[in-house]
Amino acid sequence: MKREQLITHLNWFYSLERNQVDLYTSQSSSFNKHYTGLVFERIAYIEQEHVDNLAHKIKELGANPSLLGDVLSPIIGSFAGKLISLTGLEEVLKINIMIEQKAMKDYKELINTLKKKEHAGSELIKLLEYNFIDENLHTEWFKSKLSQLQNIDSSLEH
Ligand SMILES: [Fe+2]
Ligand SMILES: [Fe+2]
Repeated sequence: MKREQLITHLNWFYSLERNQVDLYTSQSSSFNKHYTGLVFERIAYIEQEHVDNLAHKIKELGANPSLLGDVLSPIIGSFAGKLISLTGLEEVLKINIMIEQKAMKDYKELINTLKKKEHAGSELIKLLEYNFIDENLHTEWFKSKLSQLQNIDSSLEH
């Protein structure tokens, strides 16, 4: 992969991760009386680590990390307009899952592309794999919380 092309990919992740930091930070204040709020805060911290490790890598390649604008709206589609005003935890979790899954899909694609060209053990691939693993863990937590809430909902219907 050409250097410019790689930088474009990394800037895309950099933008996505920055957006996630903002999103989860605002969610953590919306749910600050609950354990879930603390989880959002902790996940925002981990996304910030991704921002930092991507920025570091982009600089190593001789470029400046740059934001590519609104990268969340295309991922979450019809939810985009009400992103900030959402107060229901179930919808918030559904959106978060969509974003994390998109991040995982794109990380995986880039990892696979790089693995064809570089050593599997390269530092960049490892960094992307670690980020991928974090997104995987976030997704699983969001999913288990969502199914817990949905089970409560359906037990109330009977
Ligand atoms: Fe991330
Ligand atoms: Fe994540």
